[in-house]
Amino acid sequence: MQPRTEATLGRLMASRLWKSIFRSGRGTSTLHRSMAIQQSVFLHILPAKVRRRMLNFDATWYLGTLTLGTFLVLVITGILLMFYYHPSVPQAYADMKDLRYVVSSGLFLRNLHRWSAHAMVLLAFAHMFRVFYRGAYRPPREFNWVVGVILLLITLLLSYTGYLLPWDQLAFWAITVGSNISSAVPIVGQKIHFLMLGGNQVNANALLRFYVLHCVILPLAAVLFIAVHFWRIRKDGGLYVQQSEPAKGAGEARVSTEDSAQEAVAKP
Ligand code: HEM
Repeated sequence: MQPRTEATLGRLMASRLWKSIFRSGRGTSTLHRSMAIQQSVFLHILPAKVRRRMLNFDATWYLGTLTLGTFLVLVITGILLMFYYHPSVPQAYADMKDLRYVVSSGLFLRNLHRWSAHAMVLLAFAHMFRVFYRGAYRPPREFNWVVGVILLLITLLLSYTGYLLPWDQLAFWAITVGSNISSAVPIVGQKIHFLMLGGNQVNANALLRFYVLHCVILPLAAVLFIAVHFWRIRKDGGLYVQQSEPAKGAGEARVSTEDSAQEAVAKP
């Protein structure tokens, strides 16, 4: 780092404002670094120490992290799209046209949102398969597996509800077919169909319901369950490390207190 940049950074980190936010600083000892993690609202969801092997690419292929990355791209692009989109029947399709032909970089924004959504679905499935084939769903991680299944469902529902919003022919007929499938459920099928669409047909009520689900309810549920997912990883002793996996690199550093729990319970 340039000496000037380093000096500016040093001054910033010594300032009262910085210290009022990051109370224990970056830390010079292990204890100090642990305190920095525990005292930060954003970092305390992570373990204070991890095994080196957990961070290897081979362990997870970073698929969960990549899924999170696509979710963040979706949140940012989704918020930007909301500035241009009205969930009303004559306007929604016109807004899509405006995004394509009038709004500066509108087509790029829309495509980024769409492709990130496809990527998130693929990555969530790939992450699930990777967890399964490593056997990382076994105790004590079975609850986190269930949380993962809920996250997968939320991901699919986000995709499904987003499908109607362009209000074009593809959207209209896809949701008509999809909602008709739900009415085939025995006994409560018609009620689910009515609840989903706010009526018996795909119309303005359905568009509004799908919009609220897509932009408010499902993203909030996703954030909540992602937080539980990460907190659970920490409480289950960090990521699963196969006992037979050879250690890469020097020093197999030890670890948080929760690791002993993993060692005790998760032996294959
Ligand atoms: C929105 C979707 C999801 C996100 C953002 C997410 C995120 C993550 C992240 C960041 C990790 C840390 C390891 C890694 O990077 O792979 C992880 C671990 C884990 N995930 Fe997910 N996940 C999602 C969906 C799922 C699904 C669908 C399942 C299974 C049904 C699942 C089960 C697990 C389990 C059991 C672990 C612990 C694995 C271990 O200990 O090695 N997750 N998840």
